[in-house]
Order: sequence, then structure tokens, then C-alpha cells
Amino acid sequence: MSDKKQQSDLLSSSTPNSATNPAWGGRFSEQTDAFVEAFTASVQFDQRMYRQDIAGSRAHAKMLNKIKVLCDEDLTAILTGLDTVEQEIHDGKFNWSVAREDVHMNIEGRLTELVGDAGKRLHTGRSRNDQVATDIRLYLREQIDSIVEEIKRLQQGVLDIAEQEAATIMPGFTHLQVAQPITFGHHMMAWYEMLKRDAMRFVDCQQRMNMSPLGAAALAGTSYPIDREYTASVLGFTAPTQNSLDSVSDRDFAIEFCSAAAILLTHLSRMSEELIIWSSAQFNFIELPDRFCTGSSIMPQKKNPDVPELVRGKTGRVNGNLISLLTLMKSQPLAYNKDNQEDKEPLFDTVDTVAGCLRAFADMVPAIKCKHTNMYNAAKQGFSTATDLADYLVRKKLPFRDAHEIVGKAVAMGVSCGKDLSELTLEELQQFSDKIEKDVFEVLTLEGSVEARNHIGGTAPEQVKKAIALARQS
Ligand code: ARG
Repeated sequence: MSDKKQQSDLLSSSTPNSATNPAWGGRFSEQTDAFVEAFTASVQFDQRMYRQDIAGSRAHAKMLNKIKVLCDEDLTAILTGLDTVEQEIHDGKFNWSVAREDVHMNIEGRLTELVGDAGKRLHTGRSRNDQVATDIRLYLREQIDSIVEEIKRLQQGVLDIAEQEAATIMPGFTHLQVAQPITFGHHMMAWYEMLKRDAMRFVDCQQRMNMSPLGAAALAGTSYPIDREYTASVLGFTAPTQNSLDSVSDRDFAIEFCSAAAILLTHLSRMSEELIIWSSAQFNFIELPDRFCTGSSIMPQKKNPDVPELVRGKTGRVNGNLISLLTLMKSQPLAYNKDNQEDKEPLFDTVDTVAGCLRAFADMVPAIKCKHTNMYNAAKQGFSTATDLADYLVRKKLPFRDAHEIVGKAVAMGVSCGKDLSELTLEELQQFSDKIEKDVFEVLTLEGSVEARNHIGGTAPEQVKKAIALARQS
């Protein structure tokens, strides 16, 4: 069933009007308005955290048993019941109900149907406030593992192309104007570095989020002698969080996640933009495989770079999601507020969007085909070795500023007669400086230019290969 359909089905199924809400209706004298019930529900979207919610409940129940608040029979009933609930959800046989508002109460409600009073004892010493904070942390922690894995897959693809094209000459740009010749491998290794920082940011955010808020209860903790170290360790958290008020209201981890995602998408959008430009007829540097492109229904000749364009576009929604969360949390007083329920949709949308974009990129990048001659010819235009000529004159003892001036004049001559610097004759070049000799042509070639930049981080093929080897070791 589509998400939309499921959502509308859920929203149309209102509470039977015979009783108030079984989870909290004790002090209420009238039934919740049907619209309000649907309006305040989150089960349409938080059901995706069902595995985390059940894991949290298992840990909590075991802890209650350990401190002798829950007897062995009740624990067994709860654990068996939770297994059944998990299986029902997994098999698509679970009946999600808006009357039960969210994933937490849906699971607890069904558990109670299955095991009776033991199910009602599960909520002893906890609240949905610490429950939801725990669930989101568990959910994101797991998502980060797959995101990092996918970034690494993309990085492998980037490394493979970098290796293949370590000596492929292309123009390097500043201001999108030809600047100096570089190698395509070097360009790919720039992408690699961007992605490396992205992976580090996600891992860093994962470490900080890996603390257990369970036990903070509604906001102040609980009067039971709970063992928070125990639940934290059962759930694979590093430690319990330190302050109960902060624990239930903190969403920094979600903001950090979205911020890492926004930076990642910003990088992917920059890569997309380059792929789009490079595959245009004007640049014609690369060919994207047909399976990553689409055609036009009116212009038969068209082959559009839809995948990179869409990734570029999706950056907007991921950035928007970050702003949504920042704005959601702005000025919220301690501790939990219902506003916080609004954290999930931007967060989940970010998770889905990042997964899709990474998958598309990791599949597409290894299939990029370079058009070597076009890249080479483009690097010959735009006087890309002008800096090399200036450096040559500096080696012949001219101050750099004077050399810059001389080369500028030579370029002006090249512009007026439509020739690259390497196409000017020695006599023509010597008009500008008598320091220029026959050996100048060695530095005016594209190969000479890239090979000369042979230091850590430089574009020389030798350095590119070293950078690749270093990356492969990590
Ligand atoms: N569905 C809620 C959320 O996502 C769970 C916590 C509700 N807590 C409460 N006191 N109403 O935030």
C-alpha cells in the first residue's frame, strides 16, 4: 500500500465513541474530537521505528524484572508478546490504529490484547517522552551505519576512476574560467576528500547520539530504583544521559544528523553540477551512461542528465529539513513539548533522501566515461599554462610581479592573434623578455605543467597515485 493511501485510511478510522482513551482517558469526561485525534497522531509516520520501540521495551522490561518490580511470569509474557507483535508488524498483519496515536501506544495496546495485565505493567517507570527519545536515537544510529557504508561505496567508485584517469589532462577552473591544467584523477580525489569529511561527520554525530535517555521518564526521572546503566548497555548505548529534563527534550542529535546530511547533499549538488556541465554539448568532457539519463518527449535528440539534476534539486529539501528542525527547537522551554513530535517527518525525509541520492551516485559514478581528447583540447585553450611561464621567468631571476606583467602582455598578444602561448614562436615570446629561451616550450606544455606540481596535494599524476594509495589504506 502506498504511504499516502495508508495515511488516509488511518486518518479516516476514528475512535469508537463509547469510551475515552484507554491510555490516558481517566481524567477525561468526553471523547477526543475525531479530527483532533487524527491531527495529534503520529503513527502514520513513527511506525517506521517499531523495531527500535520493541527493543527499548524489551530492555525496559528486563530491567524492571532485574530490580524486582516485574515478576518472572510477567517478563516472560511481555517478551513473548513483543516477539509476536514484531512478527505481526514485519508480516504486514498489524492493525495500526490512529486511536492509539503513535507507535508506542499501538505496540503496547496490541501487547496488552495478547498478554493481558502483564502488558499494562510494561509502562511502569517510563514515559513516552523517554521512550520516543530512545527510539529516535536507536533508529538514527542504525541509519548512520548504512549511510556511512554507502558513502564508502561511492568513495570506492571515485577512487577507481581517479586511478584510471590519474594522468588524464583537463582544464582546472576558477570562476568557471580555465585556470591551470589539472588531471581528472586529481579532480576526483577532491571529491574523495569531501566525502571523507562527510563520513567523519556522520560517525562523530553517531558517537554523541549514542547515549541512553531511557529512565528519564516524563521529565524528572522515576520513583522506582531503576538501573539506567543496565538498559543503556542492553541497548548498546555508551552510557545513560545525565539529566532527565535534557534527556526528554534534547533533539541536538537530530539537528546534527540533518546538518551532516545538508553538508553531504551540498557536496553531492556540487558534484552534480559538474557532471551536468561536463556532459553538456559545450563542454563534452564526459558521457553519462544512458541508464542514468532520460530523453525528451518532444525533442528526439535530447539526453538529459536527470539523476545529477534531481540530486542537485533534492539538496533544497534536505537543507529545508535542517532549518525545520532548528526552527522547531528554537525557544522551546524544558522539557518535552508536543512540538517535538514534528521532528520526525523532516528527519525521516532526510534519511530517505540521503539514501536515495547516495545510491544513485554510488551506482552512477563508476560508469562515467571520460572524453580524453575533448578535455585535453579544452585545457589548451584559455592560456592555462600562463602561470607556468611566469614561474619559468621567476626561475630566471625575475621578481614574480614583473613576470606576471610580462606574461599578461604575451597573453594579450595571443588573444589578438588567436594563438595559445605554446603556439607563439620563440621570437614572438622574446619580444616580451630576453630571459625567454628555447627551453620555455617544455613548461608551456600541459604535461609539463601538471607534472611540475609534484608535492603533497598537487595535481601531478605521481601525487594523484600517492593520494589514491593512501586513501586505499584507510
Ligand atoms: N508521539 C509522541 C512524539 O512523537 C510521543 C511522545 C508523546 N508524549 C506525550 N507526553 N504526549 O513526540
